[in-house]
Amino acid sequence: MSKTYSIAVIPGDGTGPEVTAEAVKVLNAAADKFGFKLDMTEYDFGGERYLKTGEVLPETAVDDMKKHDSILLGAIGHPDVKPGILEKGILLRLRFQLDQYINLRPVKLFPGVPTPLKDKGPEDIDYVVVRENSGGLYTGTGGISMMNTPNEVAVQSMVYNRFQVERCLRFAFEYTRKHGKQKTLALCGKTNVLTYVFNLWERAFHEIGEADYPEINREYYHVDATCMWMVKNPEWFDVLVTGNMFGDIITDLGAMTQGGMGIAAGGNINPEGVSMFEPIGGSAPKYTGQNIINPLAAICSGQMLLQELGEDAAADKIEAAVKFATGEKLEDMGAGRMGYSTSEVGDMIATAVAD
Ligand code: IPM
Ligand code: MN
Repeated sequence: MSKTYSIAVIPGDGTGPEVTAEAVKVLNAAADKFGFKLDMTEYDFGGERYLKTGEVLPETAVDDMKKHDSILLGAIGHPDVKPGILEKGILLRLRFQLDQYINLRPVKLFPGVPTPLKDKGPEDIDYVVVRENSGGLYTGTGGISMMNTPNEVAVQSMVYNRFQVERCLRFAFEYTRKHGKQKTLALCGKTNVLTYVFNLWERAFHEIGEADYPEINREYYHVDATCMWMVKNPEWFDVLVTGNMFGDIITDLGAMTQGGMGIAAGGNINPEGVSMFEPIGGSAPKYTGQNIINPLAAICSGQMLLQELGEDAAADKIEAAVKFATGEKLEDMGAGRMGYSTSEVGDMIATAVAD
């Protein structure tokens, strides 16, 4: 009996549906080739649904998601919906309510992909950011008082408890132990200014490392310096762990160094629950429906999804196919500049996976 995985597919907004279709195509090719089944259920969460129904997420959405083994997400964000509504109401709500406390974002330059970093190649740009995904500035703690008066005050607090910090650090140490090429975990913080929150992170980092991961080298970088070295010496990094806001910011920088939003994938992971995989980039509404957007980030999200399900051979095959495409076929990663259409790139990867 072959194994069957139940996958929720949320194509979402803008170019999300186009890139998701290609990821699904590749996932199905991998399933056929490697002898497992994918039972996919599509959900229409996103801007269009909100504009039609006034409902951001149906009541049952979170429980529905919990019934699946994994979630594949395209993109959330609609030009006719005020910023924040869909991002908070769909993306962040699912991340929080499914307790996907890790946002895993590989920064990996594939062969043939142009990077803006001079004299750097695939051997230099190959590390992973473990972004804490459940706390920090993202929890929405704060408010505005005396609004629209001269005394108006706005507060938005960076909140972390030991439990959140510790489970994130433990994941990062385990990840480094299993996958780290240099067995080095670097904490990215701001201990010279955020002397409460990053004091907690730094103490926990060294306590846990010393007690349970003595073979893992520990490094520390301030977030501003991290940005500097990500540009100047990306080869220094192996696994980076950081809080939610810093992780959001540095992974956009990382994405640009690996060839841009067309190729950068990530996973919102609950190691004990249901995880959700998505391209790092947004819905790119201006390219919608033109069949020119790069689907590789979505395809790589699918690859990460299979890795999380334990289908390593299938995941490796997808990665090899993507490397073949970037190394031998695609002219550029940008929308409209690939030398192929969105669906042609999907076909190319699916064919290579089936081979
Ligand atoms: C990301 C995005 C989201 C975030 C937004 C859309 C809420 O920028 O996935 O990085 O800030 O986490
Ligand atoms: Mn972001």
